[in-house]
Amino acid sequence: MTAKKLLILPGDGIGQEVMVQVRRIIDWMGKKRNISFDITEGLIGGSAYDVHGTPLADETLADAMAADAVLLGAVGGPKWDDLPFDKKPERGLLKIRKEMGLFANLRPATVFDALVDASTLKADVVQGLDIMIVRELTGGLYFGQPRGIETLPNGERKGVNTLTYTTSEIQRIGRAAFDLARKRNKKLCSVDKANVLECTVLWREEMIKLQQTEYQDVELTHMYVDNAAMQLVRNPKQFDVMVTENMFGDILSDCAAMLTGSLGMLPSASLGAADANGNRKALYEPVHGSAPDIQGKDIANPLATILSFSMCLRYSFNMDAEADMIENAVKAVLKGGLRTADIMAPGKAKVSTSVMGESIIRELEKLA
Ligand code: NAD
Ligand code: IPM
Ligand code: MN
Repeated sequence: MTAKKLLILPGDGIGQEVMVQVRRIIDWMGKKRNISFDITEGLIGGSAYDVHGTPLADETLADAMAADAVLLGAVGGPKWDDLPFDKKPERGLLKIRKEMGLFANLRPATVFDALVDASTLKADVVQGLDIMIVRELTGGLYFGQPRGIETLPNGERKGVNTLTYTTSEIQRIGRAAFDLARKRNKKLCSVDKANVLECTVLWREEMIKLQQTEYQDVELTHMYVDNAAMQLVRNPKQFDVMVTENMFGDILSDCAAMLTGSLGMLPSASLGAADANGNRKALYEPVHGSAPDIQGKDIANPLATILSFSMCLRYSFNMDAEADMIENAVKAVLKGGLRTADIMAPGKAKVSTSVMGESIIRELEKLA
């Protein structure tokens, strides 16, 4: 079997720190499981700007297009906040998502039993939680035209962003979400703002049509996004799969992260359309950012990125056994009471990013 091509883009801030821990797992897999990847490492975000003068160089994008999967840390930081808009680190991330056609962003929020007490919510609200947020990733308010800042004849300035979706964009994210729901508990909640925004009236109509024509076995409900944010903290277990617009999904997934104990726990997969052979372009990244407030302290939680790598093994490389091993190692380490600062609880042992990574390897050794 030829080695799978993996492009690793650590990015900025804690993105680089957590990716070191994933590299250790990859090294371990090479030594102990005889699985090796054809790895290229590249720059994205502020670190790419510092070297190339752009947050995503054409060569890096070409590497991403040629890879079987991309694993990304995080981008951004105060050092680059005052750059012109098109040079900002975040533009690099948005460009790679758009150019790779990664319209479906899967953000699973699952609560590990050992972390029930790490959530700021009551244990019975979150225990056993397993929901999937499907965020549309290449359209909506993030990409709609017109956009920009203009000066009006009266000297005032005007900022514009536009929420747009075509029926085909709605249908493809709808199908991705319905397909996932079908494999889970067959419940899909479509989140919109159809009481106010026409674009999401269309979204709702298209979701209903899909359900009636292709997914009658899946129960479809609708919820306004403001209510959905409230329901996520009131009673998150009412949800199975949620599907929503790009920016709504960005906000709801950070909110869902706290149900699991920390933003440092939430992985994600961003997938494109399947080709004739069933292969998809794919990028895996934690939901969190570059966390400048804790950068350089060796205290970031690497588990979201480690779990993103496990999603990569499962979705892109068909390595379910290894993905299971990583998830079981994470469970075992948490059960053993080790915690990075963000998920620390009384009576547990506080460990650094690197000790968390080492501990995962130790558990993998036991499971091998
Ligand atoms: P952030 O996600 O970086 O941090 C939010 C809070 O969560 C911070 O207090 C941080 O310390 C904490 N946190 C995040 N990840 C953690 C981890 N793994 N372990 C422990 N604590 C963690 O969001 P922000 O502060 O709003 O943004 C900082 C920068 O990151 C900005 O430049 C932003 O644009 C960028 N960002 C990038 C991505 C991405 O690359 N996907 C996502 C979000 C934000
Ligand atoms: C995320 C981030 C990004 C987004 C930013 C950094 C462009 O917040 O991945 O959730 O808004 O999509
Ligand atoms: Mn976000």
